[in-house]
Amino acid sequence: MKNLVIIANGGAGGINFPHRRAQGLKKAVSIGYEILKNGGSSLDAVEKAIMILEDTTIFNAGTGSTLGLTGEIEMDASIMTANGDYGAVAAIKNVRYPIQVARLVMEKTDHLLLCGDGALRFARLCGIKYHNPKTREKERMWLRAKKEMKSTYFPKLYKLKELYETVGVVAMDKNGMISVGTSTGGISLHLPGRVGDTPIIGAGTYANKYGGVSATGHGEMIMKTLLAFRTVMYMEKYSAPVAGKMAIEYATRNKCRAGLIGIDRHGRILCVNNTEAMSWCYIKDGNMKSFY
Ligand code: GLY
Repeated sequence: MKNLVIIANGGAGGINFPHRRAQGLKKAVSIGYEILKNGGSSLDAVEKAIMILEDTTIFNAGTGSTLGLTGEIEMDASIMTANGDYGAVAAIKNVRYPIQVARLVMEKTDHLLLCGDGALRFARLCGIKYHNPKTREKERMWLRAKKEMKSTYFPKLYKLKELYETVGVVAMDKNGMISVGTSTGGISLHLPGRVGDTPIIGAGTYANKYGGVSATGHGEMIMKTLLAFRTVMYMEKYSAPVAGKMAIEYATRNKCRAGLIGIDRHGRILCVNNTEAMSWCYIKDGNMKSFY
């Protein structure tokens, strides 16, 4: 039997509200690990753990997602297994669990990525009900951000403001199968229709026989550097911690502000960021470690 491992992160944007972060991340990995311990698949563990994070309103995913420029919430999510199965949704509105729709895309369609109205119609066809993910807290933050209009990330767009609280989970099950999921409301004050790295294969999420990685941070730069794919490919020759170090150094050299979590084929973990802080939590062989 392979190592059982699950790691989750709560975004690379900082570590405000540590108690609420801790609650969400601990619950997510504990329930995910329980699935692995009971012989469940890493795919089920990742989906369930992400659903918990999507319900923990402190993160920028699912309920509590950040608002775009016009005050609407458009969410991105993706899920992938090491045997190459992939599904994603982009700019989807009014669902509770974008990760669930991403998995449905993977399992029920011949496509990899559905976006906008098409993604929503598909979700409704699959029985996913209406849900408004907007919270008062994030609405207040949006109003403040609109007043400040400060950011180094969209210099062309009136100096808008960023918020990185994308969530990610990577897990390895008893068969050694690695799965990865990532979910986000995108960057605060983004233009309607903006899609970040999260649903783009190889950018925000990637897995193959060498390992699996989920990325958080500045989506436009993560796409340009194909950061998740790059990190997994480093794992062909290097252990997860070394691959993580190489990838985050590459990101820094390329002005990409990001955080990465991952697992290699031997169950070793990577957890790196070049931002102010990144909250994370993992359980490996029954032992939990965390940072909030
Ligand atoms: N990394 C999340 C985003 O930029 O949308």
